[in-house]
Amino acid sequence: MLKIGNIRLNKSLILAPLHGVNCNAFRLLCKSHGAGLVYTSMIHDETILGKEKPLDVIEEERPIAVQLVGKDNIAEAASLIEDKADIIDINLGCPDKEVLTKKAGSFLIKHPDQMEKAVSKVVSAVNRPVTAKIRIGWDNKSINAIEVSKILENNNITAIAVHARTAKQGYTGKADWNIIRQVKRAVNIPVIGNGDVFRPKDYQPIIDKTDADAVMIGRGSIGNPQIFENIIRIKQDKPIIRKDSSLAYQYFREFLSYYKKYSPRNIFSEIRQHAMWLVKGIKNGKEIKNSLSECRDINGLKEIFEKRATSSP
Ligand SMILES: Cc1cc2nc3c(=O)[nH]c(=O)nc-3n(C[C@H](O)[C@H](O)[C@H](O)COP(=O)(O)O)c2cc1C
Repeated sequence: MLKIGNIRLNKSLILAPLHGVNCNAFRLLCKSHGAGLVYTSMIHDETILGKEKPLDVIEEERPIAVQLVGKDNIAEAASLIEDKADIIDINLGCPDKEVLTKKAGSFLIKHPDQMEKAVSKVVSAVNRPVTAKIRIGWDNKSINAIEVSKILENNNITAIAVHARTAKQGYTGKADWNIIRQVKRAVNIPVIGNGDVFRPKDYQPIIDKTDADAVMIGRGSIGNPQIFENIIRIKQDKPIIRKDSSLAYQYFREFLSYYKKYSPRNIFSEIRQHAMWLVKGIKNGKEIKNSLSECRDINGLKEIFEKRATSSP
């Protein structure tokens, strides 16, 4: 069983932080289908200090890692939200311009001295386990995941998630799982492998290649909450669940019930976007997605699913 600080996880499958995707309803959906730990998407320290948006974390989804991005105000932000978090995660990988301008995200792995200061302040400010999510370096000439990970471990970070690409790579090329293995060998805290697990059958190879303590899944989970369950089923020698239009509709209804109950927002386009992601990969998925994209209300979405679910073979 994986332990991050005092938090025990009974499943070492983790939903990645996914800005614009993992609202609390999606996190609950992934949790109910096998994710052992869910991350919020990154929240700017200034957002917390400015209280512009309430944190959408709810009791039912715990254990939860709340991810913060920032530098100068990140420790104060962490202390303000720690009651809602089981784990506080520091984003050290975001390559977006807006984040880099604030000298946060992957800027900090490029400047390990500044990273160390920011990280140690967060660790001192809270009574929760603090984790970090890194990229393997700034670019392919400055891969420093091992150096960065050792600094993090020395500053009492309790686990490190490694997205095995450089910041400059964005999402291009292939994740270099060898570096995850090198990090795993270099530190004595849990290492979470991340990058390019798109199908259930990608799970065992990343574990074999890296020895990671857990696997974090991002894009492979979007519209596919069953990826977690299927990884567990493969381990148990059970046949995997294949998503068809009926199952996609079932996931959509489940998502919708969480959204109605727990979301602090009521934004139709957000709901529709999840419906459109859920039909990805099913028979006639593109056509169904196009029909969903034209809907203007929830009943319209349901009608399309119902028509498809009853007409599927
Ligand atoms: C739409 C989207 C939003 C993301 N948002 C975040 C974020 O808020 N914080 C973060 O650390 N990483 C973020 N990431 C990176 C993912 O967490 C993950 O590291 C990356 O997608 C690689 O994993 P994957 O191959 O399983 O998708 C995001 C990725 C995508 C595609």
